[in-house]
Parts: sequence; structure tokens; C-alpha cells
Amino acid sequence: MRQKLVAGNWKMHGDSQSIRELLTALKPAVAESAAEIAVIPPLVYVPLCADLLAGSSIALGAQTVSEQRNPGAFTGEVCADMLADSGCRYTLVGHSERRSLYGENDALVAAKTEAALAANVLPIVCVGETKEQREAGATLDVVGQQIDVVLSTLNSGHDKITVAYEPVWAIGTGLTASPEQAQEVHAFIRTRLAAHSAELADTVRILYGGSVKAANAAELFAQPDIDGGLVGGASLDAEEFAAICNAI
Ligand code: G3P
Repeated sequence: MRQKLVAGNWKMHGDSQSIRELLTALKPAVAESAAEIAVIPPLVYVPLCADLLAGSSIALGAQTVSEQRNPGAFTGEVCADMLADSGCRYTLVGHSERRSLYGENDALVAAKTEAALAANVLPIVCVGETKEQREAGATLDVVGQQIDVVLSTLNSGHDKITVAYEPVWAIGTGLTASPEQAQEVHAFIRTRLAAHSAELADTVRILYGGSVKAANAAELFAQPDIDGGLVGGASLDAEEFAAICNAI
């Protein structure tokens, strides 16, 4: 049985005051959730969150990680060992904003995934099609390629990844994939995992992301291949995010 995971990607939002308030409200509100819960703050606030979450079961994640594994002259980069040392259990890799705004391609996403695994940081590999790709009927080709590059690059640790399906057209737009649309792609992703091994298809969690909110979470999470959510905007509001976590 895959335990559901709900992760809040705060993107480039928050300050120390708002983060204190958010986590203070969130901790008791999700104490009874059946899901594993993670928050993914801007990197500079990871230590603050680690302090605020001490003794809580809410996990911490980073929004990206360097593909460089060893310390060195890589200005601006943060390697996976540093994330682990700072208390991160997870890191996102290949979020669509990293792909579209910062030029991250499938090969780099695969290298980042490997680097995270080497440091025992669990990668959440983000995939998804643009509106144009969906309209052109290319959704499954695009998502299949994004997944296959990662699966074929890794030498080991396939079972440690989480996949997040985030249709780009649903991110921050208020447009959510219908439960049926999301389930179709999640089931397809599971077939790609099964092509690697049946065990992998059973183990790997596939999260849905893209305008998840309290009002649509339960229906999405009820789909057989949706193992939780990667939540952006709605994770900045403790009450709304808690309602999503409690919709599991
Ligand atoms: O990573 C989460 C994300 O991209 C979805 O954002 O604001 O549509 O929930 P949002």
C-alpha cells in the first residue's frame, strides 16, 4: 500500500514572520492526517523550517538541487549532501518552472535525480505537458519521454523516486485537470514504471499538481493512481492546505 503524500511547494513566497505563522497553524491542523505531509520552502528558509518543525512529522523538501555531487566552485548551487545536512527529506527536480524559465532539460533533470539519490534525498520528479502539447494530442508522448529519461539514466534507486504529474496548463491558473484527465495520465505513468518493473509500478507514488485546492482534493485523491498532491498556491494558506491534507 502506498502511503499518500501531500507536499506544499511554496515557490518563491514567504518571509520568516509569515512562515512562523503558517507552520504554527499548520502543525496541529494536520496532526490527524493519514497522509505524509511535506513543505518545500525557499531554500534560505529551510533551517528556520527545520527548527519550527522539530518534533513534528511534517517533512521538509527543497525546490531544486544541484546536479553537482561534490563541493566545488559552483557559485549559487546547493548540492544534495547540503540539503540532507539541513534536514531535507525530499527535493523537487524538473519542476516545470525550472524547465521553462531556467532551461532544465530531461538530461539535467535525470542528473539531478541521480545526485539527490546519491545523498539519500528523495527526488520528486516533476513531469507534465503544456497546453499546446495537450491540444496537439502529445500529452502521453511528452510525459512518457520525461519519465523514460529518468528511469533509463538511473543505475539504482528507482524505487526511491516520487513522480509528480503537473500539467503546465493547470499550474497557477485555477484550471485543474479533471479527475478523469489526471487519472488517465497517472495510469499511463504507472505503465511506464511497470515497463521497468512490476514492483516499481506498485511502489512509486505519483502525485498530481496543478491548482489543487480543498474543493477538488478529495475527488482527485480518490483516483486509483493518484497517490497525493503537489500543491502550490493553496499551500501558502494553513487552513486551505490542512483541508487538502485532511482530504486523504
Ligand atoms: O509545484 C506545485 C505547482 O506547480 C502547482 O501550483 O499553484 O497550481 O497549485 P498551483
